[in-house]
Amino acid sequence: MLNALVTGGTRGLGLGIAKALASSGFQVIAIARNEGDAMAAAREQVARDGRGALHFRTFDLADIDRIGDLVKTLRRDFGGFYGLVNNAAIGTSGILTTMPDSAIERAVRLNVVSPLTLTKYVVRSMMTGQGGRIVNLSSVVSSTGYSGLSVYSATKASLTGFTRSLAREVGPLGITVNAVAPGFINTEMTRDLNSNQLVQIARRSALQRLPEVVDIANAVDFLFSEQARNITGTVMTVDAGNTA
Ligand SMILES: NC(=O)c1ccc[n+]([C@@H]2O[C@H](COP(=O)([O-])OP(=O)(O)OC[C@H]3O[C@@H](n4cnc5c(N)ncnc54)[C@H](OP(=O)(O)O)[C@@H]3O)[C@@H](O)[C@H]2O)c1
Repeated sequence: MLNALVTGGTRGLGLGIAKALASSGFQVIAIARNEGDAMAAAREQVARDGRGALHFRTFDLADIDRIGDLVKTLRRDFGGFYGLVNNAAIGTSGILTTMPDSAIERAVRLNVVSPLTLTKYVVRSMMTGQGGRIVNLSSVVSSTGYSGLSVYSATKASLTGFTRSLAREVGPLGITVNAVAPGFINTEMTRDLNSNQLVQIARRSALQRLPEVVDIANAVDFLFSEQARNITGTVMTVDAGNTA
């Protein structure tokens, strides 16, 4: 079985992605600080289905200095990697002028420094294998803008720049690198948005609805598939036409 690492794979989009990749036959290793009931139930379900595999490892991805050791341990336990989904992030919201410096630093650390560092170590383990797939979770707000999300948007925009340049760097190794840019989706991250805001976002979307977790999971699953072998350096928007 090919190994796929999914950060933040215990709830929301990450859990959906982890389940989709497991049902496509990957051995998925989900990383987060806490396992949670949904992840435990998903692991049991995947074991019952008998297709793919789903494991959980606890790790605080803000602990940048320990990421190299984490990858070494995972390689020892599971072998080299085929896929990496950089999904874990925090949705820091607030007006920039009143945001504590520490909150800015925390968002950049987890949403940017952490995935860049993790990718560095995971790509090293892909270099000896049969190519690989990397998917970075960006967001539509990285290109459209949204008041109160300037810091978060900056972190998400950085991942699209990273995606394009890394695609060129590792393309000769047969590794594809793409980003998925979801529109607003009902998860724990967006719980601060009130229902009026969500209704308004849906009304302004071409399809008059919000995308769902399964839509993002399907997009990542496709980018991991053989059908997507010649797609790299792109940003796939999944937003029910919010930015159309
Ligand atoms: N929801 C949306 O509307 C939306 C839209 C566009 C893009 N996105 C992007 O999609 C991705 C997933 O979003 P989501 O809505 O599914 O978020 P979520 O529900 O808040 O889930 C975040 C995941 O990341 C993990 N995580 C958070 N901090 C961590 C840390 N320090 N170390 C390790 N794991 C950590 C969480 O587990 P623990 O807390 O247990 O660590 C959880 O598994 C993010 O990159 C987000 O920017 C989301």
